[in-house]
Amino acid sequence: MKHILTSLILTLLSINFAVAASGDADAGKTKAATCAACHGSNGIGASDTFPNLAGQHADYIVKQLKAFKSGDRKNPLMGPMAAPLSEQDMADLAAYFSGLPHDGSSQDGGSADAGSTGSAAPAAYIPSPAAGKSLYELGDPSRNIASCIGCHGNEGNSEVLIYPNLANQHPEYIAKQLMNFKNKSRNNYAMNQFAGNMTNDDIADMAAYFADPAAVANVVPRRVTPAAPITAEVIAGKAKSATCAACHGADGNSPVAIYPKLAGQSADYLIKQLQEFKAGTRENAVMGPMASALSDQDMLEIASYYAAQKIATAELAGSEIGKKLYFGGNVKRKITACVACHGANGKGMNKAGFPTIAGQNESYLKAQLMNFKKGERNNDYNTMMQSVASKLSESDMTELAKYMASMK
Ligand code: HEC
Ligand code: HEC
Ligand code: HEC
Ligand code: HEC
Repeated sequence: MKHILTSLILTLLSINFAVAASGDADAGKTKAATCAACHGSNGIGASDTFPNLAGQHADYIVKQLKAFKSGDRKNPLMGPMAAPLSEQDMADLAAYFSGLPHDGSSQDGGSADAGSTGSAAPAAYIPSPAAGKSLYELGDPSRNIASCIGCHGNEGNSEVLIYPNLANQHPEYIAKQLMNFKNKSRNNYAMNQFAGNMTNDDIADMAAYFADPAAVANVVPRRVTPAAPITAEVIAGKAKSATCAACHGADGNSPVAIYPKLAGQSADYLIKQLQEFKAGTRENAVMGPMASALSDQDMLEIASYYAAQKIATAELAGSEIGKKLYFGGNVKRKITACVACHGANGKGMNKAGFPTIAGQNESYLKAQLMNFKKGERNNDYNTMMQSVASKLSESDMTELAKYMASMK
């Protein structure tokens, strides 16, 4: 776990560095001559096994080239290709490919199919594009598969720079990468979780969806399981949460700004916090004694109850400065963008242990950032939050807290 998370942090930090060198598309065009054999002169891979680069986000291209060079992403063809590239070369190449039209309309349309090899589907299964679309848009909460649309965008057109576009990518390549994430020959913490929980049939469905998303555009996605079923735990948790209501509100929407809202927070995160208050690894004079009285079962039930409640949000002014820092980080000061872990809508990532921060009380948010910075709160895996917070000034924290509190 620690190892995976360390590499996640390094990966995330390298995203920030990736933005640093600015690329020259014309210089990139010349340098791309060596890439054309496989990725096409128009950035459209010459066959199924060669991914399209046309219109891909520049930051993403740079990040992958660095990963091939360092060996973090292993591929016998790309390793040697990336090894001699300088940071400037990478930036130039990325500027060039990202500027090419997505559909390969630039020149000689080199997307000729040279024969599929790496298909992940067993021969007997007939993949369903409609099932792929449903999984893409809704995920499957019962199997811990996040919906892909939240990161990769509508029909694979991602709006967040660190999430690659999947639109117009070869379906065989998408299937192969999902298999690579699943068997961990390609490492990305989030993608390893989602792909790891996908069956080979799911992967084949996903590839079938990307073969022609327009073909199933009108299909209404089918939810595989209801999102948050009212379980016995939720009902029992409601009764047990009576002692918490004075500070956290009956439905987890704390009326007082110094007490965090618990409504809609992920159950796993809440349980982790309660366990740590009890063990003293997260120190707090009020919550320590409150949590010590709870058994594991109590924690499960109370956490399930709060997770099933809806967070109450208000129209708040927010902060443009905070928003910029949240989405962009700061390259010079090596501040990792918060969006990388807490998500574009601030809802975090349950299974990775990244909490929801959207709509949380502002003074609580600021206090936690301060606690992480001082090391008074140090229950974050591998010091993920402490290392981010250590680089924030007090005014950064004020603006970030304002912005996060305004997110919905
Ligand atoms: C001999 C064939 C070949 C050449 C030449 C080649 N590549 Fe690749 N490239 C590949 C293959 C194969 C992959 C997919 C690797 C995998 O499956 O993980 C790839 C993947 C990539 C990716 C990752 C794409 C993604 O969506 O994750 C980038 C970026 C890339 N290549 C850039 C380049 C650049 C820039 C050059 C020229 C300097 C180049 N490649 C030259 C074969 C090649
Ligand atoms: C929390 C955000 C997030 C979610 C949700 C997510 N992805 Fe990803 N995905 C990423 C990131 C980040 C990468 C790039 C990883 C890297 O840098 O190597 C990626 C990479 C990929 C790639 C490889 C693209 C390429 O060009 O090499 C595929 C394919 C993919 N994701 C498919 C999916 C599918 C299918 C789902 C839904 C089951 C999904 N993703 C859900 C963040 C996400
Ligand atoms: C007297 C007021 C009070 C009561 C009663 C109380 N809490 Fe808290 N709770 C707090 C405060 C203050 C914090 C912030 C602690 C900190 O700053 O680290 C907190 C934090 C938490 C957190 C961490 C939230 C986060 O986002 O990290 C959880 C979980 C929690 N409380 C659950 C409970 C539960 C469950 C109960 C009832 C069994 C309860 N609390 C009762 C005051 C209270
Ligand atoms: C590498 C991933 C990562 C990045 C980047 C990151 N966070 Fe976090 N954050 C976490 C994790 C993990 C936790 C929960 C730690 C724990 O288990 O208690 C957390 C917790 C928090 C909390 C406390 C939430 C609560 O309910 O107590 C706040 C506030 C927060 N982060 C804000 C930010 C801000 C602002 C940024 C950007 C400047 C940021 N984070 C960047 C991973 C990250």
